Amino acid sequence: MLGIGAEPVRLTWRVEDPGDQGQVAYEIQSSGSADFDELLASSGEMRGEEQIGVEAPGAPLKSREIRHYRARIASAAGWSDWSPVLTVEAGLNQASDWVAEAVTLPDDPGSQRQSPSPLLRHEFDLIADVKKARLYVTSLGVHRVSINGQPVTEELLNPGWSSYRHRLLSATYDVSDLLSPGSNVVSGVLGDGWYRGRLGWDPTDDRARYGVELGLIAQLEIELSDGSSMRVITDEDWLTSTGEILSADLYDGAVIDFTSEQLGWELPEFDTTGWKKAAVIPYRKELIRPRQSPAVREIETRPTQVVGRSGNKIIVDGGQNLAGFVRLRVKGDQGDQVTVRHAEVLESDGELHTRALRSAKATDNYTLADGGEVDLEPTFTFHGFRYAEVETEAEVILAEVVAISSDLPRRGWFECSDQTLNRLHENVVWSQQANFVSIPTDCPQRDERLGWTGDAQAFAPTACTLFEAQQFWSSWLEDLALDQDDQLGVPSVVPDVVLEGEPRFGRAGWADAATFVPWAVYESYGDLEILRKQFESMRRWVDSLVARRGVDRLLPPAMQFGDWLDPDAPPDRPWEAKADSTFLANAFFSHSARLTAEAAELLGDTALSSHYRRLADEIAAAVWAGWQDHVIETQTGCAVALSFDIVPGGERSRIEDALADLVRQSEGRVATGFLGTPLVLHALARGGRFDEAYQMLLRRRHPSWLYQVEMGATSIWERWDAIRPDGSIHPGDMAPPPGMEDQDGPQGHMLSFNHYAYGAVIDWVYRHLAGLAPDHSRPGYRHVILAPKPVSGIDWARASIDSDLGTTAISWRREPDGDLSVDVQLPFGASGTFLPPANDDSEVTLDGQPSEREVILGPGSHRLLVTNPRIASPDPS
Ligand code: BGC
Repeated sequence: MLGIGAEPVRLTWRVEDPGDQGQVAYEIQSSGSADFDELLASSGEMRGEEQIGVEAPGAPLKSREIRHYRARIASAAGWSDWSPVLTVEAGLNQASDWVAEAVTLPDDPGSQRQSPSPLLRHEFDLIADVKKARLYVTSLGVHRVSINGQPVTEELLNPGWSSYRHRLLSATYDVSDLLSPGSNVVSGVLGDGWYRGRLGWDPTDDRARYGVELGLIAQLEIELSDGSSMRVITDEDWLTSTGEILSADLYDGAVIDFTSEQLGWELPEFDTTGWKKAAVIPYRKELIRPRQSPAVREIETRPTQVVGRSGNKIIVDGGQNLAGFVRLRVKGDQGDQVTVRHAEVLESDGELHTRALRSAKATDNYTLADGGEVDLEPTFTFHGFRYAEVETEAEVILAEVVAISSDLPRRGWFECSDQTLNRLHENVVWSQQANFVSIPTDCPQRDERLGWTGDAQAFAPTACTLFEAQQFWSSWLEDLALDQDDQLGVPSVVPDVVLEGEPRFGRAGWADAATFVPWAVYESYGDLEILRKQFESMRRWVDSLVARRGVDRLLPPAMQFGDWLDPDAPPDRPWEAKADSTFLANAFFSHSARLTAEAAELLGDTALSSHYRRLADEIAAAVWAGWQDHVIETQTGCAVALSFDIVPGGERSRIEDALADLVRQSEGRVATGFLGTPLVLHALARGGRFDEAYQMLLRRRHPSWLYQVEMGATSIWERWDAIRPDGSIHPGDMAPPPGMEDQDGPQGHMLSFNHYAYGAVIDWVYRHLAGLAPDHSRPGYRHVILAPKPVSGIDWARASIDSDLGTTAISWRREPDGDLSVDVQLPFGASGTFLPPANDDSEVTLDGQPSEREVILGPGSHRLLVTNPRIASPDPS
């Protein structure tokens, strides 16, 4: 692992042989050499079963330091062998390590308007073979770096988006193989990206949010075979020019003119006549941190089908709504233009529906340089789309779609006998990938693509279930804490750009991402470190709410986004939901205080824990006193009050009944927005109301989750009826949200086909339909609750999670004789409580032997059989 930071190294190990012996002790050693002939540090023999996020012994790594680790464990069978060696190498962790300057094109017109990308190059000689070379790099704006014409990485849009006023992320690459004795060239191309490109919905004033000058900051450190070393850094000796990239913007797309290409400029001995000396611009070295979260990459290439043709235009369909771009192979003449426009859906006449993009042009344009075949793909941009229109005189030989995303390993898998539900699951996976492009965003297509905290709050548990997103969230939460304000609270978008006035900070259910997201990460990955890191931020958020309370101890009415996009809200005023927004604000306040109390307790601070628990209870009681009659009127009211323990113990079943009645009376109609949707099925499940939960989940009429699948969705829509039952596209009209009337608001229109918030339901599907849930008392799937809830109409289901311990899986099937067979697999270090879906006379066998109904299972494979199982049977909807 290259480029790790200055924080203590934390290790996680998996033990392959499940056996039935648990870990009773471990030992970690570190060394400067891979053969461990000399130890740097040892943990000694430590008693305990910890396998996840264990802090390695020894001082934090110094910049550039290489360190090797190995671990072994003891079980009742004795000590294991040492694990394979893990080698880590630190990046540049001190501001003083950075001697490179930030360089760019002098008098870059890009400071005023979209302009050609600066090209930067430096040629140097090596007098001997290269033993080892590292490139440390970051930039103001996005960059691509090559050595002797070879890209140093396939990562895209580096250094990614962070709260640039506080943090600029760097990466480390092993470039030893790209250099050779003689003349070498290191080169870079810069793009506006998030730093200087468009951000926000006001096309008259949306550029250069972070700065007007781009800058490449690169430091190449080389050790030669003759024992000498040298350093090549970006400085005023670099040469600069422009080339074929005439402009590149995340919203608008790229304009590439191959007649302006400077062929060979990244290779040695290129004629640099006409190139200028680079301009050096100031930057703050102390903001640079090694990036710990996976970079953005191509994740899939998909073929397209031509679905429309008129004149010199074709419309291609990639079959999937995603974030990415179109890659073309064309053959034409010098000067031929190729224009590619993008859209998520087609109008009824077969044309692209581009209104949803608002002011984002989402158009890539190429000018061909000669008559040969050429491959085209845009630089420093991406689009949210399924369809693309390609307009050109040239012959289109190939058109494929490339999906991009922060490259997180997939960890959650689900499948069942209901293909529509499987497609919903796939749609959520795709919406996560499309919206995890460096930071968690609301959508990937229109002039927005911002880190809306409410969307993240709603979706975080599902995101953690589907992908290995721990570092991704940890990085974003670091920005959330840095952008947080002691008085105003947490921003509605992180990184904090674009918004002004009241909507900017402290909105209920949005700002609560400060407490909800760390908690979701802790529960799913089981590493206390996230709570340790975020605890101050959690506390500061709750304390800012305390300061805003009125004399009645409650938060007063204020502008809120509320249960955003409640299907019963006026379509152009999505904040006017049925559930009272002051009730919601206070309920979220109570729950944020409760999560802060839980975190304090886990971190060992009992005084703070009881302080925040008292606060949570106090607010909960006041909320109940103020809104108990209101709560039972809506699904969101009941779901929030039940999930956040606002409802006093003795009243729970009455409110559970009320929620179940609401669901039944409306035939499973989803009546919740962004805040209620993630909770409603969980609230039903906690009360044992599976018939009603399934009535909602499996409903196919509008509004419902499966409605959109049946209408052909391949990702999760922002509005429940983005395509209306008559097949027409929702008009998407919007009034300016409260508090934003005097700002150039989101252009009077809001309609995205790729918003993950409603996809939050998928976490419920893993936990209850499949029956695989993490247990927050032993988080990270160390202990799991195996409680499948079969339902009529679904014959089998299976789910698995690749947790840090290994694969945890469940699979159930309704056998022809009516029994339910359940197969469970648990990795070393894990255990599970099996809770059968049982009727009074059900019997349970475990691996062929009669068993108690509730059984604790250890590592390994187990087969359970439940006779006369309880099968949920929802009313038809
Ligand atoms: C975004 C949402 C966001 C909301 C806040 C919209 O424009 O797309 O997903 O949470 O505004 O109200």
